[in-house]
Amino acid sequence: MRTTARSRTRLRLAGALAAVLVAAGAATGPAAAAEDPTLADLAQRHGRYFGSATDNPELTDTAYTEILGHEFDQITPGNGMKWYATEPQQGVFDWSAGDEIVELARTNRQKVRGHTLVWHSQLPGWLTGREWTADELRAVLKNHIQAEVRHYRGKVFAWDVVNEAFNEDGTYRETVFYKTLGPGYIADALRWAHQADPRVKLYLNDYNIEGVGPKSDAYYALARQLRAEGVPLHGIGLQAHLALQYGYPDTLRENLGRFARLGLDTALTEVDIRMYLPADETKLATQADWYRRLTEDCLAVRRCAGITLWDYTDRYSWIPAFFEGEGAALPWDEDLVPKPAYHAIREALG
Ligand code: G3I
Repeated sequence: MRTTARSRTRLRLAGALAAVLVAAGAATGPAAAAEDPTLADLAQRHGRYFGSATDNPELTDTAYTEILGHEFDQITPGNGMKWYATEPQQGVFDWSAGDEIVELARTNRQKVRGHTLVWHSQLPGWLTGREWTADELRAVLKNHIQAEVRHYRGKVFAWDVVNEAFNEDGTYRETVFYKTLGPGYIADALRWAHQADPRVKLYLNDYNIEGVGPKSDAYYALARQLRAEGVPLHGIGLQAHLALQYGYPDTLRENLGRFARLGLDTALTEVDIRMYLPADETKLATQADWYRRLTEDCLAVRRCAGITLWDYTDRYSWIPAFFEGEGAALPWDEDLVPKPAYHAIREALG
């Protein structure tokens, strides 16, 4: 369904038709429907945000951007602020993709989470294609971080400074940064970012750290150490790419709580809940229940600042391309129709 231009067109037409029908229903149906508070409205009543990732190619889809602009008060660029996009040649910066999303967010009065400064993936070829001495790489890293943070100063409220730094067993991931610079690259990255924008919140961000376990323990230990050393770390981002076959992370609330007790914010930064396709009523009901639970878990911990979906619709989910046979991970389906998960989030926020 996602592969041909014709099926995409069909989808868009179906989405547009659905939007027209919804609009017609809102005009003639109960007045309340048109005035229902959005997810963002509901989250704000708790002092939280409710956001979505988005990506530049999607912004020409007006049925999509309408919901994106209406329902959410926070945006994360899915790719546009990554290293390959922002520094395609060494020392030559291209802010166009990130700027486009910042501008859209400004128009919609949404705040922007910066994603991401240091990551082993989606690096430009000039960086991965050669060997670096520690001194060289340190200078490259500092320059990249400070140029980007400076460019977006006052325009993003938080940065995922280092993304996915640990393996599942809690050992450091052997990235080019770790192998060349040692574990101190994380503290350096945070300090450099802080110098460039002393007001922006600085996060470490990773997946499979929602529950208490070896990987989240590694973050807990590192965060405690960084805080003790006075390194500017303000939060931990839990991506929350969940999958029905692996079970709900029952210790999520406890985990959020222990980071809060270190004096750190947390956020659920890239939420989706995938399943084996085809979706059916039972799986969608379980998915809805998980979306409800993770919303409740965030609301239960004061320092959990907000929730971001890793895009809001199955039309633009990364899942089917990365996990064969899986999908249907988001609260809106491919036709932009809300699924049970959407209503469950509303109930949890309401
Ligand atoms: O830019 C090229 C384009 O020129 C080409 O025509 C097209 C053909 O496949 O590929 C485009 O690149 C794709 C890129 O997204 C931009 O759309 C890559 O193939 C694709 O692999 C890449 O996927 C991104 C993925 O990160 C890479 O790991 C996803 O969109 C993005 O949502 C995803 O996001 C990550 C977070 O940053 C970190 N946490 C995990 C999350 C999911 O992987």
